[in-house]
Amino acid sequence: MTGRPVISATGLFTPVESITNEELVASFNEYVKRHNEAHAEAIAAGEMEPLQESSVEFIEKASGIKARHVMAKEPVLDPDIMAPRWPERSNEELSILAEIGVKAARDALARAGRDPKDVDAVLCAASNMERAYPAMAIEIQQALGIDGFGFDMNVACSSATFGIQTAADYIRSGNARSVLVVSPEITSGHLNWRDRDSHFIFGDVATAVLVEDAAIAPAVHWDILGTRLKTVFSNNIRNNFGFLNRANPGSEGSADKLFVQEGRKVFKEVVPMVAEMIVSEAGRLGLDPHALRRLWLHQANAGMNRLIAHRVLGHEANADESPTVLDTYGNTSSAGSIIAFHLHNEDLAPGDTGLICSFGAGYSAGTVFVRKAA
Ligand code: COA
Repeated sequence: MTGRPVISATGLFTPVESITNEELVASFNEYVKRHNEAHAEAIAAGEMEPLQESSVEFIEKASGIKARHVMAKEPVLDPDIMAPRWPERSNEELSILAEIGVKAARDALARAGRDPKDVDAVLCAASNMERAYPAMAIEIQQALGIDGFGFDMNVACSSATFGIQTAADYIRSGNARSVLVVSPEITSGHLNWRDRDSHFIFGDVATAVLVEDAAIAPAVHWDILGTRLKTVFSNNIRNNFGFLNRANPGSEGSADKLFVQEGRKVFKEVVPMVAEMIVSEAGRLGLDPHALRRLWLHQANAGMNRLIAHRVLGHEANADESPTVLDTYGNTSSAGSIIAFHLHNEDLAPGDTGLICSFGAGYSAGTVFVRKAA
């Protein structure tokens, strides 16, 4: 038996706490001041370069980000810590990643009117997994009371679209009828809050997408017209943290075990790759890219999205055609395009066609063309 995959509903969990650029820069510049004072002699002797201050104006102009939500604001802003902290949880407690994933999943299930007992699988598709195993997906499955299977998958910022295609393939093959794709992104744990070039980029959030067979979906849903995935190896976005490299002398806690990128190169290389991929996939599906009603793009940089949307739509996109959530959420890795879709899809009319698109480390990119069902 084969099915026809649709998006029945999406869910969102937004952490209560938020950090403005002003708060972030004040904390960063205090760290810079203390660091330069502590090394004043070495700097004066020319043995060390002083650290440079960050600026609110640069951050907003370069990225479009004005604020970001986080799971633990105080330690992130404390110049002596500059990393998230929370009490360690016992194995009997729900882990923090599963906790926010469950919140987003419950939101999606409620919107679809779906009983967890009728869900067949949970994919935890995210960039920053909390541990190696057991899979967070199985923990989320257990917490929701789902009888079926779950596993974790990580394709960095493209995890959610890769998860949607995987779920859609289960529906198409008849291996499942209802699949939850959950993307809990506690990006604050892998961001180097002491790195001037990237300290402003990320925010925390969790999203969920319920992918189902049209035969059981609620009346209001989005047909999945087609999905396409692409990966091309690049060292321009990396995070070397892992279980095999922790023992190397001097490596633990060093900056390359956190997020690092060549932002300029990423910008230049990813924009044409993604724009081309979208246009060619639209062609394969017999869709006119200029006629797409809305683009829900990955939320990494406002300038990147402007360029991609222009190349796809053939004109400068307005906020209605290519909504941004970057300003209040920052880059939320795989969750970004899903937040944009979640917050900006209800006003569209039956028959409207749009695109959910992600791109990021790997490089990786995924497209999900959708049409609102009547
Ligand atoms: N405050 C003030 N100035 C800063 C700064 C900060 N926090 N960080 C960098 N600068 C300075 C640099 O020193 C540089 O100065 P110079 O011209 O005197 O050398 C200047 O600003 C430009 O820096 P650059 O890093 O080239 O900025 P950019 O315009 O490329 O913007 C990004 C940086 C990261 C916002 C942008 O490249 C980007 O978003 N790229 C895509 C990233 C992406 O999609 N990543 C995927 C992650 S999943």
